[in-house]
Formats: sequence, structure tokens, C-alpha cells
Amino acid sequence: MCGIVGYLGSKGAYEILIQGLKRLEYRGYDSAGVALLDCDGKLNVHKSQGKVSNLEKVAQAGNTNGSVGIAHTRWATHGEPNDINAHPHVSQSGMIALVHNGTIENYAVLKKVLMDHGYEFKSETDTEVLVQLIEYIKLTSSCSLLDAVRAALLQVEGAYAIAVIEQNDPDTMIVARKSSPLVIGVGDGETFIASDATPIIDYTDEVIYLNDNEIGIIRRNEPVQVISLESKEPSAINIQKLKLSVAQLEKGGYDTFMLKEIFEQPSTLRDCLRGRIVDNCSRVVLSGVELNKERFMKAERITLVACGTSWHAALIGKRLIQDFCQIPVEVEYASEFRYGNPVLNDKDIVISISQSGETADTLAAIQLARQKGAFVYGVCNVVGASIPRNTDSGTYIHVGPEIGVASTKAFTGQVTVLTLLALSIAQLRGTIRPEKLHEILSALERLPETITEALKVDPEVKKLSRIFAYAHNFLYLGRGYNYPTALEGALKLKEISYIHAEGYPAAEMKHGPIALIDHEMPSVIIAPSDSLYDKIISNVQQVKSRGGAVVAIVSHGNQAMNDIADFCIEIPEAPECLTPIVASIPLQLLAYYIAVNKGKNVDQPRNLAKSVTVE
Ligand code: F6R
Repeated sequence: MCGIVGYLGSKGAYEILIQGLKRLEYRGYDSAGVALLDCDGKLNVHKSQGKVSNLEKVAQAGNTNGSVGIAHTRWATHGEPNDINAHPHVSQSGMIALVHNGTIENYAVLKKVLMDHGYEFKSETDTEVLVQLIEYIKLTSSCSLLDAVRAALLQVEGAYAIAVIEQNDPDTMIVARKSSPLVIGVGDGETFIASDATPIIDYTDEVIYLNDNEIGIIRRNEPVQVISLESKEPSAINIQKLKLSVAQLEKGGYDTFMLKEIFEQPSTLRDCLRGRIVDNCSRVVLSGVELNKERFMKAERITLVACGTSWHAALIGKRLIQDFCQIPVEVEYASEFRYGNPVLNDKDIVISISQSGETADTLAAIQLARQKGAFVYGVCNVVGASIPRNTDSGTYIHVGPEIGVASTKAFTGQVTVLTLLALSIAQLRGTIRPEKLHEILSALERLPETITEALKVDPEVKKLSRIFAYAHNFLYLGRGYNYPTALEGALKLKEISYIHAEGYPAAEMKHGPIALIDHEMPSVIIAPSDSLYDKIISNVQQVKSRGGAVVAIVSHGNQAMNDIADFCIEIPEAPECLTPIVASIPLQLLAYYIAVNKGKNVDQPRNLAKSVTVE
């Protein structure tokens, strides 16, 4: 939530910051702002409600000079999205500007103290409190900006990634982080900072990931310094090479990032599988499991924690681990787990699933699990994000940056990695027959081709989407492995088209939701030819006999369903445990085209942000 970006070097900062904000807009688009120090030593701040394009119109009418600056794109938490609440926030004297991603939890107490000292506040934000506090400390203690930032942060409770500049010192920027991400890009005579590496990759592939409770000191023509917030001791500088490419951050000829991400799934799944299936599909290799054999051997229970789409992947992971490894598995919303007093010991494995690796609840859940002695394994997409850095071990899904706010390729990557993980644990514990392992691994190896095949339904789904323009409610039904697929299909539709949709286990429908069914409420029923196919047929009949329209997702060649359902979408055959990956393709397309028909912004749906770094 919220994206921050900063630049200090010899080029004009404004363009770099605006381009950076555009890359970070997926993190929030309620307002945007930029603060620049011009060569006459003046601090110029421009802000605007709404997207970065609005900010550009406002800023271009003013002074955008300067080779140092900070900028922000906001997902509102404290105070409504308007110009005043937009960042950067500036101290009372107008000398210090600050951008912030996170939440200052004790801001009300700090604000009262500052008001007692004569400070007046313009905005309703928690962030303004921090910049005023920094100024108050600096003026009352006559200390440097660095010392004032440090002293202020020692009083702050909550989460932050911040960048601070001061009018008197155009050669310095101070940055810091706790529980919100911050990356420093090391260029030749220039330094970049951002919430993730995407604004930096155009300029340098060398980065430093700031750790929690660290302060970065960026000075013109000097190497970056990092110190500990508590002790002020210098931290070791670990410069890492980025593996991102600029092409991965562009739409590549598609109308939207979401459509690009749906269609690139054959290649993202190929990347996800690369090097992990060996010996002619007879063995799976996940280094995270190989290096921790003992922990996986002695595990008595596995708990999967995640949020949103990743939680749906976790539900599929539960089935996979139970089926192949015969270990009891629980799935928890990270937000419930962290406050649920979980009972854990060293025979527990907690697996976190997160695309961004920054989701605040998931991060807190794994920190708690580790404190309680569990072994924590992460399944993540963004390399170097906070969650993988807080786990004992893990596996990256390697599907490349996901920019569309609605998750698509990350979901199929997560389920693919969870399949590999379940097979890998089963192989280790000897709970899977070699023939079965070979069958699933062969199907996994063919998965990119299977998904290419599945994507051929695109024109058909596009046509179908027009038929449902009338619907205000949808029901998504599935059983077994595809109950979570139904939840995911419903979530996709909700978040980008704003149509109410509910996912339900197909057999549970008759215990309540069936009352909702009439000719105005279509049901999407996921019914591949699996072990529960005969059971789901009767659920389809139950919907039909109450006047509801049915769109059935069926396996290729299923003629029988044509006589019952109103519309059938065929997907390629796959082993039962892989059907969620294949069936999610038409569901992603259906949600996409319905939203496009309704004229919605599918890449940036209202009220949402890609990376949820607040509770
Ligand atoms: C939905 C979606 C969200 C995320 C959720 C968790 O399309 O993207 O529901 O899945 O916010 O995010 P991560 O996976 O980054 O932890």
C-alpha cells in the first residue's frame, strides 16, 4: 500500500520520480505527490488527488527543477484521498519533506504532544505527525537531520518506509524502514530509492534491500551508508544484482497488464517449473526441502497461512499435501492466525503464500510462528521481499512481476509450486508411489502446453461475457480440488467488475444459497471429469431446475453436459490435482471480459492495491 520513490544524483529528478511513480501505481492510486529541491535551494512540492497523470498536470504548471527529490503514490488509510492528505508532507517551517508507506500507530499521542508545543496540522494523516516530530527534535536539539530522523523513529510505533529531504541540504536524503519495503538502487554518481525495484531497473541493476530497523544515508557522490536504528552502528552493505528486465514491466502489445499476465501463463509456468522436475519426470527437486529434510521428516502438522487469492491457493495446497503426504494440514487467513493464539511447536511447519512478499498480516503471522518454534517455509514471487527474508526456507514461484492488481499468473504459479512442494515432501517421506509421482510430474512438465490449449477458449469466453451484462450476482460452484477454484473465480469477478459473486462448495449450495437462484442469477460450475464429476452433475441439475443459467467448465470432449448446462467451456484434460490451474484460465478470462464490457479499469480496480502492507 502506497509507493515511495526518491532520487539524488546529477540528472533532473522530476522525470525519474514520475516514471517511478507510474511503476508503483499498482500499490495505490488515491493521490500522488512529489517534492523537489531546486538549484536555488527551494523546496517545491506538487500534489494531486487521483492518479499520477493528474499530478503531472499540476506539477508541470510549477517548478519541477532539481536533482534531488522524493515522491509518493497513495492508498489512503488515515484521511480521505484529497490534495491535502497527499504526500509528501512538509514540516511547519517548510524546511523538511517526507514520504511514507506504512502506518504510524501512536500518531494520535504524538500529535497531541506536538500540538501542545504549538504545531498545527494541515492534513488528517499519521505521516504529517512524523515530519513535524522530526522538525521539532531537530530544532530543539540542534541536531542533524539524520539524528532527528533517528530520534523520531525511536518514538514511533507501527510500520514505515520513509524518505526525507531537507531544504538546507540538497546533498542528503535519509531513508528508513520497519515492516514496509524499501530498496536502494546504487548507480554511477546517483542513488535511487523505491518501495520495490521496478522504478530502479531502468537505471541500475545493483540494489541494497534495507532491513527492518535500519536507516540509509544517501549523500551526493558518496557511497550509501546503512546504520542500525537502535545502536547507530554501521550495517554491512550487501549489494545484490537484480534479475528483472524492463520488458517484464511493459504491456507488450496487450491492452492491459491483466490480459498480458493471463496470456503469458504458459511461459510463466515454464519459468516456475524450470529445473525442478528431473530424471525423466521421476523426481522433483526443491532445494528448500532438500536442505531441510529433517524438518520435513519430523513434521506432524502443516499450517498454510495467506490472504486473498494466495489463501485460495493455500486451500488447494491443503488438498495436495493431504493427498500426497498424509500429513494433517490446516489453512488459516493470516489475519486470523496472527491473533488466534496458535498452538505451535518444533514439529509444526508453517507455509506462507504471498505474491508480493509484503502482505502485513502474512508477515506478522510468520514472525509469530517462528517465535513459537515452528519451521517457516515461504512460497513467494517477489525476490528479496520481506516475507522470504523472514522465513527459514522457501521456494520462489518465479512468474515475473505481476502488475495487474487482480492476481492471475501468480495464482497459477503458487498452485504449481504447492504441487511441487507436496510431491517433494511425499517423495522424501515415501508416501507416494513412483508411478503416481511420474504421472503427475509428466503432466506438470506438459502444463505450459496444456495452458496454451486452455487459452484457446478466449474468443468463446469473450462472446459469452456479453450475454451476462445483465447480471448483478453470480454464484461460482466447485467441489474437491475445485472448490477453491470457485472461490478464486468469484473473487476475480468481484474485484474487477464490481459484480457481487459468491464461491461455494457445490454440495453446500442446497443448505442456503440455493434460495438465491432464479433466472437473474447465473452460476459458473467447475465440473471437470474428475472423481466428483457424477456428484456435481446433480448440483448442476439443482440449479437448472430452479431457473438459474449455468456456465459449466468441463473437460474436453464432455458432450453430456451440453444437454444440461446453458453454456459449456471446455478445458484440456489434466490429472485431478492440476485441474484448478487449468480451470482458472476461463474464469480469469470471463471476469476480465465482463469487467471490460462494463468499462472498468481492470488493472487498477477501485479501492484496491496490489501490496497490502497495512493490517
Ligand atoms: C486478488 C489479490 C489479493 C491478494 C492478497 C494477498 O486478486 O491479488 O487478494 O492475493 O492481497 O497478496 P499477496 O499474495 O501479495 O500476499
